[in-house]
Amino acid sequence: MERILPLELVGYKELEYDLLDESGDVVFPQGEKLTPNLLMKLSYMKLYKHERFQREHFNPDFTLPGHEPLASLIAESSAGHLLGDTREFLQKAYDGTPIKLEECVKSTKIIIDEVAAAMGNIESIDQLRIYDEYTYSHNINVSSLSTAVGMLLKLNEKEIKELALAAFLHDIGKMKIPREILNKPGKHDDREREIMRRHTSLGYRYIKENFEIPDRIARVALDHHEKFAGKGYPNGLQGKLINKYSQITNVVDIYDALVSDRVYKKGIPGHRVIQIMITDFKKEFNREVFEKFLELAVHDPEEKAS
Ligand SMILES: [Fe+2]
Repeated sequence: MERILPLELVGYKELEYDLLDESGDVVFPQGEKLTPNLLMKLSYMKLYKHERFQREHFNPDFTLPGHEPLASLIAESSAGHLLGDTREFLQKAYDGTPIKLEECVKSTKIIIDEVAAAMGNIESIDQLRIYDEYTYSHNINVSSLSTAVGMLLKLNEKEIKELALAAFLHDIGKMKIPREILNKPGKHDDREREIMRRHTSLGYRYIKENFEIPDRIARVALDHHEKFAGKGYPNGLQGKLINKYSQITNVVDIYDALVSDRVYKKGIPGHRVIQIMITDFKKEFNREVFEKFLELAVHDPEEKAS
């Protein structure tokens, strides 16, 4: 995913590729007419092009094992339970039906057990993911991958439980975003993007109102789009003002969003996403957290990016 400067688009009639924001969401789709007004708008945004990255930025010396998708190491029965429970839980959050915290804790227990059992056998980070509609699988996958990074960071048992739960709940605020905006297949306009970003504060408020859990867990819903280097949202926090759970969730959230199929885009292969994260996002992450993430994603030490 290559950063695009608006000047590069001058002279073209329409976009020849999708323009993505930093989360990998399509902001302007291929075919969008490049009017002077649009060019002006783009000049204020940080955008990336989707298509050309592979040829121009892919470093052929950087090879990762597992280019071909390997079977998930999450047991099929566990994945089935997790998806069923997550669907029910998200539907309740959407309807405003009361949810018991234990229901979420039960799911995160399954996730922790599955990840712990898989840790010694991972050839590809994607083996910790399950595949289903993004809305449901994303919560589970971000929790699984965060748990794995937490284990590599040697967090203690209590911290792992908190992290898995925090990551599982990180996007709960999206259930409070109007469906027509959340599921819009095309670009979000400025107003809609602003509304989408509110899923952070809405999620935090939802958790605080519904569950009695330590603030450090609830904060992940609020802070998972904050960047360690600053300039994230909603509050532009920096460094250690962002707790460790949010820092971890931020890294794996970006990975899962980019590799996943969405209604409006095909997922990008995992090894390319890793390359994107190294070239484009590395400086935005806590180094220690990102190194552990890479440890999970890049198995042969000789193939690790420096
Ligand atoms: Fe989010």
